[in-house]
Amino acid sequence: MTQDELKKAVGWSALKFVKPDSLVGVGTGSTAAHFIDALATMKDQIKGTVSSSEASTQKLKSYGIPVLDCNDVDSLDIYVDGADEINHNMQMIKGGGAALTREKIVSALAKQFICIVDESKVVDVLGKFPLPVEVIPMARSYVARELFKLGGKPIYRQGVITDNGNVILDVHDLVIAKPMELEDRINSIPGVVTVGLFANKGADIALVGTSSGVKEVTK
Ligand code: A5P
Repeated sequence: MTQDELKKAVGWSALKFVKPDSLVGVGTGSTAAHFIDALATMKDQIKGTVSSSEASTQKLKSYGIPVLDCNDVDSLDIYVDGADEINHNMQMIKGGGAALTREKIVSALAKQFICIVDESKVVDVLGKFPLPVEVIPMARSYVARELFKLGGKPIYRQGVITDNGNVILDVHDLVIAKPMELEDRINSIPGVVTVGLFANKGADIALVGTSSGVKEVTK
């Protein structure tokens, strides 16, 4: 199977976790896009969605799926999203699509985080995928120097402006032995909006697409 076929299989398999009358948080990226295709088949049974990006909002609306303002929602029943890497503790690197901040906000509202990935995303140690950090534009050089001190090699993602009007630094060459500590450490650098480490609040369930079917993984 191709990687996209695996992404499609996990995107559709997440549908069984969506209960009638629920509020659904929707992630961003090519795997989440398959989930949106699946969600459209039960759009009349859910209360609505909260989206993590302008791109996902557009796709949801194109199907006529209701998209609510995050500020009008106290909590979500479920959040479904992809990841760039996930380890066996269900901690993730996210933000390859630059939507990390809204993804972290929407997932924080959810009672359950379902991570949908193909098997290439499952790792023993996070860090081979460059760690995205969303940064206020005027702080870019300062934050880059601070990230360098932490042992990484930050590279400015040229030409990318996030939905929040900020920039992204991708930190290469990190071996993330202590994801929770690193998440807190990077988030405390002035000028950092969000680091794409989802470690303190990871996923509850991972649906992993493999050539022999979708596997359901928990901690
Ligand atoms: C978006 O910013 C990311 O967090 C995505 O969830 C992640 O990059 C996975 O994307 P794909 O599903 O396209 O591989």
